[in-house]
Amino acid sequence: MSEREERQETASGGLLLEAAGVGRVFGSGNAAVTALKDIRLGVQQGTITALKGRSGSGKTTLLNILSSLDEPNEGRVFFRGRDITGLTAKARDALRRKEIGLVFQSFGLIPLMSAYENVEFGLRIAGTPTSGNRGAAERALERVGMRERMKHRPSELSGGEQQRVAIARAIAHEPELLIADEPTAELDTKMGLQVMRVFRDLVTRTGMTIVMTTHDPGLMELVDHVIELEDGRIVAQTTREHSLV
Ligand SMILES: Nc1ncnc2c1ncn2[C@@H]1O[C@H](COP(=O)(O)OP(=O)(O)OP(=O)(O)O)[C@@H](O)[C@H]1O
Ligand SMILES: [Mg+2]
Repeated sequence: MSEREERQETASGGLLLEAAGVGRVFGSGNAAVTALKDIRLGVQQGTITALKGRSGSGKTTLLNILSSLDEPNEGRVFFRGRDITGLTAKARDALRRKEIGLVFQSFGLIPLMSAYENVEFGLRIAGTPTSGNRGAAERALERVGMRERMKHRPSELSGGEQQRVAIARAIAHEPELLIADEPTAELDTKMGLQVMRVFRDLVTRTGMTIVMTTHDPGLMELVDHVIELEDGRIVAQTTREHSLV
């Protein structure tokens, strides 16, 4: 059984991610800000979850904790059943490099590099062995529909195309989990929809799990699970039976 088939096999059941009573306070004393309080959630493997909520409600803070970029002050986070709270910085780095891909609002591509070079460079700085990188980079670009334009530099691509290259860079090492903070915020509706189509395709074909944030009510219709935050707490959760993309 190939790795992908195995992944799909487990995709039907099981939580990929779980947060149990997660809290995060920044600063201390009078300046302390409670960004998250008693967050309890489970993310099913092979689904798209969107976090929504007003600016400052804690979405980015929660994504950073779920992707092990940051640690909670309270509670625990489980990734495939394994407690990832309290790991050393080195162990968290290793976890991210192997299992997690990150996408940001502003794409973060290197201007002087072509689309292909950006993806390949991402693999190299993540420390994956160089042999096979070419194939992995091209496969990732193919997945997001950008293989034909892989020789173009970011300035020669539309915003939506740049974001698709950034997604290719994030998935080139075939992570289990893709975390995307406002991936469509700088895109118009049409390009935002393209990005959502790429996400759905990744989930359907590879069993990847995606957790994202968005302010766009239209995109909320296209995900499997919506979690609403208010002042660092979960105030509503909805699950859709059938996704629309
Ligand atoms: N490093 C930090 N130091 C101090 N306070 C922080 C830090 N990061 C976030 N906060 C505070 O935590 C709260 C939640 O911030 P967060 O960035 O998670 O919100 P958000 O929902 O992502 O907002 P936006 O929609 O504007 O991106 C805010 O009050 C913010 O000011
Ligand atoms: Mg944010």
